Amino acid sequence: MCGIYGYIGTDADAASVVVSGLQKLEYRGYDSAGLAIIDANHNLKILKQVGYVSELNRLVFKKSKELIAKVGIGHTRWATHGRVNKANTHPHIDCHKQIAVVHNGVIENYRQLQRQLIEKGHRFTSQTDTEVIPHLIEEFLAEGLKFRQAFNQALSRLVGAWAVAVISELDLDTIWIGRHSSPLAVGIGDSQLYLSSDARAFDHQVGNIVFLEDGHLGSLSVRRGLKLFNLKGKPINYTLINKNGLDKIEMDKNGYDHFMLKEICQQPQVCRQSYQGRIDFKEKKVVLGGLFNYNSQIKQSRFIGFVGCGSSYHAGLLAEIIGRELGLSTFSLDSSNFGRADVDKYVLNNSSLFYLSQSGETSDTLNALKIIKLETQALNLGIVNVVGSSLARQVKAGVYTRAGIEVGVAATKSFLTQVLIGLITAIYIADLKGMKIKSRQRLFQDLKQLPNNIEKVVGLSKEIKQLAKRILSVDKFMFLGRRLAYPIALEGSLKLKEISYKFSYGDKLGSLKHGPLAIIDKDNLVIAIVFKHDTDLSKNISNIHEITARKGRVIVMGDVNQSSLPRSIEDFIKLPSLSTAWLTPMVAAVGVQLLAYYLALLLGKEIDRPRYLAKSVTVN
Ligand code: F6R
Repeated sequence: MCGIYGYIGTDADAASVVVSGLQKLEYRGYDSAGLAIIDANHNLKILKQVGYVSELNRLVFKKSKELIAKVGIGHTRWATHGRVNKANTHPHIDCHKQIAVVHNGVIENYRQLQRQLIEKGHRFTSQTDTEVIPHLIEEFLAEGLKFRQAFNQALSRLVGAWAVAVISELDLDTIWIGRHSSPLAVGIGDSQLYLSSDARAFDHQVGNIVFLEDGHLGSLSVRRGLKLFNLKGKPINYTLINKNGLDKIEMDKNGYDHFMLKEICQQPQVCRQSYQGRIDFKEKKVVLGGLFNYNSQIKQSRFIGFVGCGSSYHAGLLAEIIGRELGLSTFSLDSSNFGRADVDKYVLNNSSLFYLSQSGETSDTLNALKIIKLETQALNLGIVNVVGSSLARQVKAGVYTRAGIEVGVAATKSFLTQVLIGLITAIYIADLKGMKIKSRQRLFQDLKQLPNNIEKVVGLSKEIKQLAKRILSVDKFMFLGRRLAYPIALEGSLKLKEISYKFSYGDKLGSLKHGPLAIIDKDNLVIAIVFKHDTDLSKNISNIHEITARKGRVIVMGDVNQSSLPRSIEDFIKLPSLSTAWLTPMVAAVGVQLLAYYLALLLGKEIDRPRYLAKSVTVN
């Protein structure tokens, strides 16, 4: 989490350039924001504000006369170490207030470093891990090292994850940067250089981009341009990537109240753009050009795995279930719960693994990839939304989901496209392996109709909003589903808790009688997701009876006929019916997204920026 932005160039308005960059990075964290500049008198100046970047912007505007500067760095924070307050807001400085540092990541050995620095007389003013960096640089400068050497030495002491930018009045015309396990990119324009945690936030002036790799350090200056080197100081060559290949951050809500609603409503179109050119409806085949070069390896893989966390894990879980129903040996891994001890060499050595991620920067998923790369022979592939992201660059090949920029913190259209790509990837692999796919004709017909059916669910918005009004006073929710509906129950529960802050729990409908039934009472509400193609439909009905018999309140969302449901249910949201089973979860996903959205809206919550969260989770 956290976003870093920086500017050095001929424009004397560095502070405004940095703030407008931070505004585009706010999805990475919005607890507080700050910046540092070197002003016209060659003094380091720091500005900090608790709250959104707009607060910092107001301050910059008020003080604009004092902020004439051609170099600046800024930071928008998602708190990891220390409370949300001004002292913990970046940039952090050394004892002499001459070196300013912004940092994204977590420094695992900061306590030990801090202790050593305090023993040497350094005074710390924040509770952050970051503050050790300016003090380390200060210490090495005091030992007589040049700035570049001191910077190198300081960064080589850090254990953990860091993307760092440093400016100093001791070294006026340079921004020093470094990356290990947290993203950082440099944007190159005419006589100006930019840096950002996310390349899509770059100013229109940027023509080319350089993505830093782990262990890359560098300097940005107008005179010398961009120089990269490693921790030992050895120069590194870099490749320029044209910025036109990247999506731009879309900051316009197009008349919607929230990005989340805009992104939910965009899903019919997003779905079309995601599978365009990838499905041959005439031949009833899937064509995934990104995987061509690995066809034979994928075909030979005994197992197919899906790895991700949060919503991306739920999409992987669905791909696992669909894959298994297609006849593949599939499994899924939650990267947030994965470690070295979980490496099953027999399985992973014989696997093609698909890493699912919207951002492509999620630390848990990148860590799982790192471990699996190191320990196994698995073929590592991606299902990623952000083009050029760390994950996209670290896997052998993959399929972009093409959801477009997702600004709302809660995953919506990115989840839908992950499920869609997961499904068509499973079909592609089943075909590679020469498996017979039942109901192929109807399956491809359903795929063709999918955008229209999603549109129909978007059309249920009013009805779902009315339902949200009726259940507004409920404090505890249980989302339950069987088989293909289970990942949607988990996803619905996650959506609801993250934006409405209501207690919510997701589980398998069938597992209720093994314990959770005990918490059923009139104050809880069960949202049961029920699909008519479920081979165990009658068990769903019995489970619902078991709940209502105990005075539990149940709302059903699904494509079943209402007449097949117990009369005792409180409400029913009828989803459009498809002719096969595998696409219904996508239709249902839109239903649970809308329910979570309207509950949060009616409760007056900050939907696009839910508390304690950030869009891209770059810490473990
Ligand atoms: C939930 C949500 C998160 C992400 C998770 C993985 O709405 O957005 O649970 O799904 O943090 O993020 P990515 O997909 O970027 O790896």
